[in-house]
Amino acid sequence: MKALVLSGGAGTRLRPLTHTSAKQLVPVANKPVLFYGLEAIADAGITEVGVVVGDTADEIRQAVGDGSKFGLRVTYIPQEAPLGLAHAVVIAREFLGDDDFVMYLGDNFIVGGIRELVDSFRAERPAAQILLTQVSDPRAFGVAELGADGRVVGLDEKPEVPKSDLALVGVYLFTGAVHEAVRAIEPSWRGELEITHALQWLIDHEHDVRSTTISGYWKDTGNVADMLEVNRCVLELAEPRTLGEVDAQSEIIGRVVIEEGACVTASRIVGPAVIGAGTRISGSYIGPFTSISRDCRITDSEIEFSIVLDGSSLTGTSRVEASIIGRNVEVTPAPRVPAAHRLVLGDHSKVQISS
Ligand code: DAU
Repeated sequence: MKALVLSGGAGTRLRPLTHTSAKQLVPVANKPVLFYGLEAIADAGITEVGVVVGDTADEIRQAVGDGSKFGLRVTYIPQEAPLGLAHAVVIAREFLGDDDFVMYLGDNFIVGGIRELVDSFRAERPAAQILLTQVSDPRAFGVAELGADGRVVGLDEKPEVPKSDLALVGVYLFTGAVHEAVRAIEPSWRGELEITHALQWLIDHEHDVRSTTISGYWKDTGNVADMLEVNRCVLELAEPRTLGEVDAQSEIIGRVVIEEGACVTASRIVGPAVIGAGTRISGSYIGPFTSISRDCRITDSEIEFSIVLDGSSLTGTSRVEASIIGRNVEVTPAPRVPAAHRLVLGDHSKVQISS
């Protein structure tokens, strides 16, 4: 069995995080969301992985390399434009051959991995197996309609009037039967070869298309509350370890990961939290559900339930919470007079000031 990981798409800037133009590299607990997918694939016993790349190919190649750090063998498959999920299957034909495969959308996050799903697919081999999850606004997703017996009877891509609240999750399992389907369909109104149409083609041609409904699913939508929430869930499962230095005046409580070269002095860290490599925390409080990335400086500050990306600093700031701070950001107190906020904010920034 092989895996096809979709990490293409246009390089649109992400909001609120503008540090990367590849949405598959948005960090969750200091690790790109794509890496969780690759780890889940390796955990399911798959080693041959085709990674579809587009405009942001360089960023993805730099992050993933040859896949060996995940125990995978990665073949890159360039896609000239994001012409649809089914188009990705068309261009991957040579890589896939006639093997069964799991197609994994690189910006999706599935709590608990895919091992069980892959095992049951291997045992039963329906033509296709899809994952569904209940969402509050199905209009942003592919939506499935199930018959009375639980079988998939219809699929709509981003319907204005959804027939159910069951959204398609970005993990699909296929046998070679899908190749005939992706060749048979036409581009949709949005000009893409839709995998939902290929699935519908399989259903209409009496192939066995099964579904499993899961919880614990996330996809980056630029929504701050969702990002903090998925970060929180992942931190709760982190294995505590201290690879950096912690001085005798500091207190570390609960699940805390202190990465290599990080240095904590006269501070209190209450987990779950992760402190990235090379980051210095001094005279500060880091509260639960906080991810501080690499090479940050947190000095005489308090922060909790937040995400801070590479190279940023907080000095004399208390207390920051429910916040996402991008790369190379500086937060410092304003002078006493005039009593005013001084802000230099990038495009699409959002600030809430408590005063
Ligand atoms: O995330 C789940 C949803 O993913 C499903 O509910 C939808 O049915 C499915 O069509 C898809 O919808 P999106 O519009 O959200 O997909 P998006 O364009 O964000 O692409 C998903 C991933 O696949 C993303 O990592 C980019 C990559 N991609 C996408 C296209 C269209 C490619 O590599 N090549 C492509 O041609």
